[in-house]
Amino acid sequence: MPSGSEDSMEEGVAPPLRITPLKTVYEDDFLIGNVVPRQYLSEDETYVLTTHHSAATAENAMKPQPLQPDKGNFKFEQADAIVNAVLAAGMKMHGHTLAWHQQSPTWMNEEGVSREEAIENLTTHARTVAEHFRGRVISWDVLNEAINDNPANPADWRASLRQSRWYQTIGPDYVEIVFRAAREGDPDAMLYYNDYNLDNRNKALAVYNMVKELNEKYPNVGGRPLIDGVGMQGHYSLQTNVTNVEDSIKRFGSLGVEVSVTELDVQAGTDYELTETQAISQGVLYARLFNVFKKYAETIARVTMWGLNDDSSWRSERSPTMFDAEFQPKPAFFGALNPTVFIAQNQKGGSKSAVKQAQVHYGTPKLDGNDALWDSAPEIPVNQHLTAWQGATGSAKVLWDDKNLYVLVAVHNAVMNKTNANPREQDSVEVFIDENNGKTGAFEKGDGQYRVNFDNEASFNPASIKSGFTSVAFASGAVYTVAMRIPFKTIKPANGTVVGFDIQINGASPQGMRQSVAMWNDLSGNSAGDTSGYGTLKLMK
Ligand code: XIL
Repeated sequence: MPSGSEDSMEEGVAPPLRITPLKTVYEDDFLIGNVVPRQYLSEDETYVLTTHHSAATAENAMKPQPLQPDKGNFKFEQADAIVNAVLAAGMKMHGHTLAWHQQSPTWMNEEGVSREEAIENLTTHARTVAEHFRGRVISWDVLNEAINDNPANPADWRASLRQSRWYQTIGPDYVEIVFRAAREGDPDAMLYYNDYNLDNRNKALAVYNMVKELNEKYPNVGGRPLIDGVGMQGHYSLQTNVTNVEDSIKRFGSLGVEVSVTELDVQAGTDYELTETQAISQGVLYARLFNVFKKYAETIARVTMWGLNDDSSWRSERSPTMFDAEFQPKPAFFGALNPTVFIAQNQKGGSKSAVKQAQVHYGTPKLDGNDALWDSAPEIPVNQHLTAWQGATGSAKVLWDDKNLYVLVAVHNAVMNKTNANPREQDSVEVFIDENNGKTGAFEKGDGQYRVNFDNEASFNPASIKSGFTSVAFASGAVYTVAMRIPFKTIKPANGTVVGFDIQINGASPQGMRQSVAMWNDLSGNSAGDTSGYGTLKLMK
């Protein structure tokens, strides 16, 4: 082994590659966290966790379902083992999560449970669990994912609340109820509201307004305001706009609460493959994010990654973490470790993902989906999840003629539900068109969003694009197909014309709330008004 001493360097021997632990690089700024995916970790997992991280979150073990599967029957064994091991390793433990609409037992708030009972179930769970871990956790995600995606009117945060079972059984005051119970159970732990897509301005505003109002209403619960922090999950992609992330950190910071990045990962590859270019772009995005985190170190308490390596990540197929399947550090790791140097060295890589393009054949199909014309049309996968939650995905085919664009979308894994009065919450397919591929920050003429649910009910944005539109839908089991005929409005298409285009699949939960959004290209979360993230179609004759 070369020694790495000055002597050996003078002799021209390469020093050993000794990487400074990530937690050491940021020790004056914030805690560096990662998940504990299960009770027993492999040697490699333990190495990565304890070498680079100063904090941990149980990936699943402290969620309501595992902790209280049946009423009154608390099961702390696994969670205790994880928490104690983390503390024994000299790390801090964060608790995740006391109230959520996922991974929670149905008995807590199912149909037939009265408001009083639901409040009792919610407060007992939150208080008991917080009390149990008191002194061992530094903070709790008290409430997870309670705000809708891109809410229309964020000034009214109550109207922006997800129509979850907690909301339905208790009403909007369930938010303050669960925070008060958590404070009672553990007066020392920092209490967080935690959510994804908080780089979306409207969602961030709704959270801001909620925290502001509740902290004004409860300025002194055990010596301080009710809510101590906002957790930005940070399930990002190469299209994430880092300026939007920064704006939200600043906005939450202005409330006087702390901010933590609680579940950071960056989707970059496909099918468990990450090309070199994608790996560099991913590194640049991690670097740009860490530059922002450093800038707001006064506000940020902790940055936690969601996955010890690409293999065990919940989004494994998109290689989103800093370590590869063999636990080798990826460019993402070096981007986070030394952002400025990494960006300087990889300037060209940028952090933009390539805009996807599909080549589209000429033809006028029948809309029943059986027309042989569809057979040779290339498939467009619609399987990149925009939301933290994964659900229905699908694939699409597109054809064109002089008057129309024809889109056929087959959706899989749908729990078909259209009970919600708001069409965007229903199981449905959306097509986005930007006829002149202008990639504008606001819709202009020739831009539009066409939505059709599994029962062929259509809705339009703007409403004026409805004219001349036709669709059919057929459903069977967990699969449905939607075919649309969309007239061109501002262009005369020709061989080689490039049109901005995207497809979205909305997946509703069995309770009728949208819980997943899968996209073809645009992961900005702003497709409904901003065409700049769309993919493109090249019309071919
Ligand atoms: C995920 C876990 O990573 C998976 O193992 C599990 O199957 C589902 O939940 N937002 C959250 C996390 O708050 O709890 C989720 O974790 C990811 C999205």
